[in-house]
Amino acid sequence: MSVLPPRPPAPDGPGLADGFGRVARDLRVSVTDRCNLRCTYCMPADGMPWIPTEQILTDEEIVRLISVFVSLGVTQVRFTGGEPLIRPGLTDIVKEVTGRSPRPRVALTTNGIGLARLAEPLRAAGVERVNVSLDTVDADQFARLTRRDRLGEVLAGLAAARAAGFTPVKVNAVAMRGINDASVADLLSWCLAEGYELRFIEQMPLDAGHCWSAAALVSREEVLERLGRRFTLTPVPAAERGSAPAELFLVDGGPATVGVIASVTAPFCASCDRTRLTADGQIRSCLFAETESDLRGRLRSGASDDELADIIRGEMWRKGPGHHIGRPDFHQPLRPMSAIGG
Ligand code: 5AD
Ligand code: SF4
Repeated sequence: MSVLPPRPPAPDGPGLADGFGRVARDLRVSVTDRCNLRCTYCMPADGMPWIPTEQILTDEEIVRLISVFVSLGVTQVRFTGGEPLIRPGLTDIVKEVTGRSPRPRVALTTNGIGLARLAEPLRAAGVERVNVSLDTVDADQFARLTRRDRLGEVLAGLAAARAAGFTPVKVNAVAMRGINDASVADLLSWCLAEGYELRFIEQMPLDAGHCWSAAALVSREEVLERLGRRFTLTPVPAAERGSAPAELFLVDGGPATVGVIASVTAPFCASCDRTRLTADGQIRSCLFAETESDLRGRLRSGASDDELADIIRGEMWRKGPGHHIGRPDFHQPLRPMSAIGG
């Protein structure tokens, strides 16, 4: 007996729904797949196959597609990459997006390089929140993990974000076996002293080199055990931490907190409210989606906003229930994280 797939919602239906009852409000926009670091959990040392320049969306195309997503109920836009700050027009893109009505909230995920110069202009353009990826404050570990000797620039970027008035400034960290796993408590000490909010993310199989292994995973449990040797961690009740996927803990009684996102061992797929636009203009409903729909080609051949909206709605409606990392039927996406947007 065949089961008919559920029908997509009517064109004027409520928001970007999928067939599992979730509604996407949070759009991640990758503005480039290039980067000035080579983090081992993301890219190989060299030989990355970059998206050809003519396939990368122009500033105008990004702004137009974002406004179609906003018309479909997206309320938050997060710019990512690759490294979004290497895109020269980013500040102008943000200004355009925040100048429109309805105005989405705008956030940024960056490796911090370039933020020393751009934190103020980006805040003035309307970016409300910044997450900086920083896995260690040990210069040798940083160089091994990112394959570049640029820790100083990241720290300067973080300080500039704080000075520009972003509150909180969040730090995202991935613990990697044999590189920074033994120093997670040092990173937390440093973030507490500097006033940054730290969150650990379990390493997902999204690296271009396909090097992820379950055996090497530094799990939520292991990170908490290591932090627990130096700090007293008290869970913040789920009801008090909103819809964010991070599990939060008060550190030594608070008010400072540390977060852990168990993206592999306890996925938050059931409450996912995200959708993604790649740098080459494809909509992806999930980091691990096995399909995507082309918006760039349709846009360049003259599609109307309504036609683009239909493609977006259709792709979201096909969104799967979640990832199967670690199961035999799991397929790592062909696109690496740097070409999807975190
Ligand atoms: N697993 C988990 N997090 C990752 N990031 C990049 N690659 C991975 C991965 N394989 C993080 C970056 C950044 C955010 C976009 O995702 O460090 O903080
Ligand atoms: Fe660059 Fe981010 Fe990938 Fe590191 S994780 S190489 S900073 S895109």
